[in-house]
Amino acid sequence: MEKLEQIYEGKAKKVFKTDDPELFIVDYKDDATAFNGLKKGTIVGKGVINNQMTNRLMVRMEKAGIPTHFVKELSERETLVKKVSIVPLEVIIRNISAGSFAKRYGVEEGIVFDQPTIEFSYKNDDLGDPLINRYHALALKLATAQEIDTIEKYAFAVNDVLKAFWSECGVTLVDFKLEFGRLSDGTIVLADEISPDTCRLWDSKTHEKLDKDRFRRDLGGVEDAYAEIMNRLLAHDAD
Ligand code: TMP
Repeated sequence: MEKLEQIYEGKAKKVFKTDDPELFIVDYKDDATAFNGLKKGTIVGKGVINNQMTNRLMVRMEKAGIPTHFVKELSERETLVKKVSIVPLEVIIRNISAGSFAKRYGVEEGIVFDQPTIEFSYKNDDLGDPLINRYHALALKLATAQEIDTIEKYAFAVNDVLKAFWSECGVTLVDFKLEFGRLSDGTIVLADEISPDTCRLWDSKTHEKLDKDRFRRDLGGVEDAYAEIMNRLLAHDAD
């Protein structure tokens, strides 16, 4: 598989064309940003961890019947994925109050919900990824009603698989963000990444944060938290 020209550079990843028009290569960086790029830094080794963690979790999703863009891990930081056009919605599932939910609704962090919530943000950096509902998404023609139904169904299914797996690792899945893409034939598949950058993961016993909130909130021990969460995954994800 030949790596051709770069077609996109995001905050944490680069995407390259390949000699197959239906396949892209994703290359994970150590760059970290928060608050829509306002805070910038480096988390040493993050790209390797996020690549390998995402791929292992994507394989679990496929096994559970959730289609993904994943094809093959090529190297520590590089993965071959199916070409998709990203649906410009950030899909957020929450099991426990935290982050912007706690702030927006004036509640403490750590309230366990009776059932998970779902919300959408319009993926648009210039606007700061504003919160929107399905009617707004339809009005803006970001996705069709059928696509939104599919995305919701997959997002809750991802939550079931992830929650159960992280629980085996002694980790509580607080919330996470997903992105979906359309293949050339229009099929909706799970894309982007599932990593400590995009999930809140708390140690089940101590509630210690093992995710990017350590960077966002200057809590220290960022690299150690990423290494710890990866070790927990590896211990429970034997090939
Ligand atoms: P929030 O509480 O800040 O809205 O974040 C909810 C979840 O989404 C949390 O697990 C972190 C993740 N997230 C991203 O992956 N990218 C983002 O740009 C933001 C704001 C949150």
